Amino acid sequence: MRKLVQHQYALFQFLTALLILASIFLLSVFNMAKEAWQHDQLKLLTHANSLQSSTLKPPRTRHPLEVVYPYNYKFLLNEPDKCKRAPFLVLLIITEAKDLASRLAIRRTWGNESYFPKLPIIRLFLTGIPPMFSASMQASLQEESNTFQDIIQQDFLDTYNNLTLKTLMGMQWVNQYCPKTSYVMKVDSDTFFNVDYLVHGLLKPELPARERYISGFIVANTGPLRSKKYKWYVPKDIYPNDTYPPYCSGVGYVFSGDMAKRIYDVAQVLKVVNMEDVFIGICLYELKINITKPPPNIFNGLRIEYNRCRFKKLIFVHHFSPQELLQIWPDFQSTASCS
Ligand SMILES: *[C@@H]1O[C@H](CO)[C@@H](O)[C@H](O)[C@H]1NC(C)=O
Ligand SMILES: *[C@@H]1O[C@H](CO)[C@@H](O)[C@H](O)[C@H]1NC(C)=O
Ligand SMILES: *[C@@H]1O[C@H](CO)[C@@H](O)[C@H](O)[C@H]1NC(C)=O
Ligand SMILES: *[C@@H]1O[C@H](CO)[C@@H](O)[C@H](O)[C@H]1NC(C)=O
Repeated sequence: MRKLVQHQYALFQFLTALLILASIFLLSVFNMAKEAWQHDQLKLLTHANSLQSSTLKPPRTRHPLEVVYPYNYKFLLNEPDKCKRAPFLVLLIITEAKDLASRLAIRRTWGNESYFPKLPIIRLFLTGIPPMFSASMQASLQEESNTFQDIIQQDFLDTYNNLTLKTLMGMQWVNQYCPKTSYVMKVDSDTFFNVDYLVHGLLKPELPARERYISGFIVANTGPLRSKKYKWYVPKDIYPNDTYPPYCSGVGYVFSGDMAKRIYDVAQVLKVVNMEDVFIGICLYELKINITKPPPNIFNGLRIEYNRCRFKKLIFVHHFSPQELLQIWPDFQSTASCS
């Protein structure tokens, strides 16, 4: 009797062990099957995704006119210490490495930093990397920079469609090295420029410095040119809207020092447009800052023949060569009365 019980007990133990082993086996088979199934699902899913991205979203190619921004462009030439005490005005002058004659003429005429004994003015020429003869151009630019200490340069290709990058470099420079300047003027180098009328006729140093201020020749009610024939061609990929917000003509515009940071900051989150003046207009639109209407005929995008008395009462006239600038300057400096 006792032996039988023992035997039954052993059988019971054996069956229990068998049952446990069987469950372990079944469980692992089930797990393997589940993993295999999940793996298949994952494969299906990634396949579907790749199908979707190849059919619905083709891999994004950059439009050749697309401005690469934001991007950590490096200063190749810089003047970090030029702005020791807060100046009244920073002149950001758009040039290319090859424009040596313009820079020499501007330094001797309207870009003279000692123009006003009591109002500090800073002159900076803005450049990128010369697209042609880069090595030799860079060497002479470096030498010129050592001599005059008025050139800044970042490592983007200096082309017409990269002009926005040059202006944004200027905004970055003011923001980083000269945020306390009262005003900034961005101006083209092929321009007659009357700093005296800008300072005393328009900005007026005796008034408190403005904020959220920008003025220039206002271009309104225009939109992008969609034909590749034009120098000002802007593709839909880059700017989809049919109209531009009002903007200041890029030949020259003046703004209060605080605007450099505002524009620089908002440019980091907008799609940069290859027309620099248009893009600044888009920044102003985003910032909800209106352009201040200037007195009539002081910003002249079209050429006017030189006349001393007329030129005394305006800020700039576009399309003046370096030779012409040097030629008219002595007469322009004359204080003979105009009545
Ligand atoms: C700049 O102006 C000052 C003061 O009028 C003059 O002495 C100096 O020669 C000028 N500099 C150049 C490069 O013309
Ligand atoms: C603008 O500069 C970048 C950086 O140097 C360059 O890759 C790009 O080709 C330039 N774009 C144009 C339109 O020249
Ligand atoms: C472009 O068009 C969109 C849609 O109408 C509008 O919301 C946006 O403000 C426009 N942008 C500019 C810069 O005009
Ligand atoms: C800007 O101009 C518009 C239209 O003239 C006006 O409605 C708006 O109040 C102005 N905004 C500012 C900040 O002055």
